[in-house]
Amino acid sequence: MTTEYHRRAPGGGKLYSFEGVWPKLAEGVFIAPGARIIGNVEIGAGSSVWFNCVLRGDVEKIRLGKGTNIQDNTVVHVDSGGTSTLIGDNVLIGHSCMIHGTFIEDNGFVGLGAVTMDGCYIEREGMVAAGALLSPGKRVQSRELWVGRPAKKMRDLTEEALKNMRAGVEGYQQLAVKYLQEYDADLQ
Ligand SMILES: CC(C)(COP(=O)(O)OP(=O)(O)OC[C@H]1O[C@@H](n2cnc3c(N)ncnc32)[C@H](O)[C@@H]1OP(=O)(O)O)[C@@H](O)C(=O)NCCC(=O)NCCS
Repeated sequence: MTTEYHRRAPGGGKLYSFEGVWPKLAEGVFIAPGARIIGNVEIGAGSSVWFNCVLRGDVEKIRLGKGTNIQDNTVVHVDSGGTSTLIGDNVLIGHSCMIHGTFIEDNGFVGLGAVTMDGCYIEREGMVAAGALLSPGKRVQSRELWVGRPAKKMRDLTEEALKNMRAGVEGYQQLAVKYLQEYDADLQ
């Protein structure tokens, strides 16, 4: 007899158990087809994980707050030395990022293709630019913009930039609702 170890998630992605621990999803979470969520991962209401992401909570835990989006092809992992990945509410993580053992407070923003390494910390409304590499243990303070490889602080964010960041998050929240309606129509 084989034991079940994967299930369909709302939206069509997949949940996998590891050592008997299953991911936990709140109401209204969208997991796009091709995305895989493994083990000790909890995702808050209205968050979305897009096509072909991997969130692997095996040797440590991963937490996502409410209304957060993780865009296509991004990998989220943890460090076995006790470094979890904790992501707050209304965070935007762009396409093809690598988020490893990182803490991201509410309204944080990680631009497309960026890498954040173990022990990094992004404070509320902090921004990591597209393509940046945040080397281990770096701290992006609230409303700072960090750019480059390795990333350094470029400047403080303007009110307009913060407004655009919030609009990006809202756009993804609305898009996730539409996808859920379309892809789970037969389940409702
Ligand atoms: C960092 C960022 C905010 C800069 O935007 P900006 O202030 O409008 O910058 P500009 O386009 O005016 O460029 C200013 C300078 O910074 C450089 N620059 C811009 N973005 C850069 C980046 N991501 N990495 C390195 N250098 C960058 C430009 O080449 C330019 O250099 P120059 O003066 O030597 O020509 C923007 O490029 C970015 O990364 N946005 C994130 C977008 C994203 O990932 N969205 C998620 C997907 S939905």
